Amino acid sequence: MSQMICREVSLGYDGATVASHVSFTVEKGDYLCIVGENGSGKSTLMKTLLRLRQPLEGEIVLGDGIRQSDIGYLPQQSETQKDFPASVMEVVLSGCVGRSDFGFFAKRKNRITAHDNMARLGICSLASRSYSELSGGQQQRTLLARALCATEKILLLDEPVAGLDPHATEELYETIARLNRESGVTILMITHDLGAVMRYANRVLHMSATPTFYSSVEEYRTSMAFPLREGGVS
Ligand SMILES: Nc1ncnc2c1ncn2[C@@H]1O[C@H](COP(=O)(O)OP(=O)(O)OP(=O)(O)O)[C@@H](O)[C@H]1O
Ligand SMILES: [Mg+2]
Repeated sequence: MSQMICREVSLGYDGATVASHVSFTVEKGDYLCIVGENGSGKSTLMKTLLRLRQPLEGEIVLGDGIRQSDIGYLPQQSETQKDFPASVMEVVLSGCVGRSDFGFFAKRKNRITAHDNMARLGICSLASRSYSELSGGQQQRTLLARALCATEKILLLDEPVAGLDPHATEELYETIARLNRESGVTILMITHDLGAVMRYANRVLHMSATPTFYSSVEEYRTSMAFPLREGGVS
């Protein structure tokens, strides 16, 4: 059974529709890239999947034992507080909120989880550094480790490499791909980077005013929605 089914969903604010007829399914282990021009509703879709907003129409159904709390989120960078006054350890640990942190053993378990995820992201040496003093790439790794403390099942990543240099971009993409491949974490990633879509994704959702296009990467490459194809829309 699918982990997530999005059926004929319309998205918007105060009755103004941003995107309509959005339909797709997410299976365990999928790497779904969400593409489309600025303002096409990609971030709004993620917020709707997180139930931070209600769809104007249609429905989003979770299956395969997935609960709302199994969905982790890395927001678009402009929406995160870059001057957050906390250490890296504290930021990562805050991802364990929702798990019990009462008592010595629960606290210790949460610290181990935080440490394990920092190790996965290669940021153990930054544990006591102030989050606000980190580079963009280090901040993104910290936020990804935080999201992994909350869940190992589904991660929603809103332009995770925006603002990173080519080397940091490559490293973060490889880390995300490893989480997907080796740990079976389902990835939904918004990106403007078609190279990454072709390299990592198995499914693509192209948001646009013309009907939203959902397909496998192979179908997307040969479709009219593919921006690099002659006659394709951007
Ligand atoms: N809180 C809000 N209230 C009203 N309208 C909003 C709000 N947030 C976004 N919008 C509008 O909804 C539309 C879609 O915005 P959204 O942020 O989802 O686009 P996006 O596809 O993520 O764009 P980008 O690639 O620039 O991040 C835009 O026209 C935007 O102005
Ligand atoms: Mg956005």
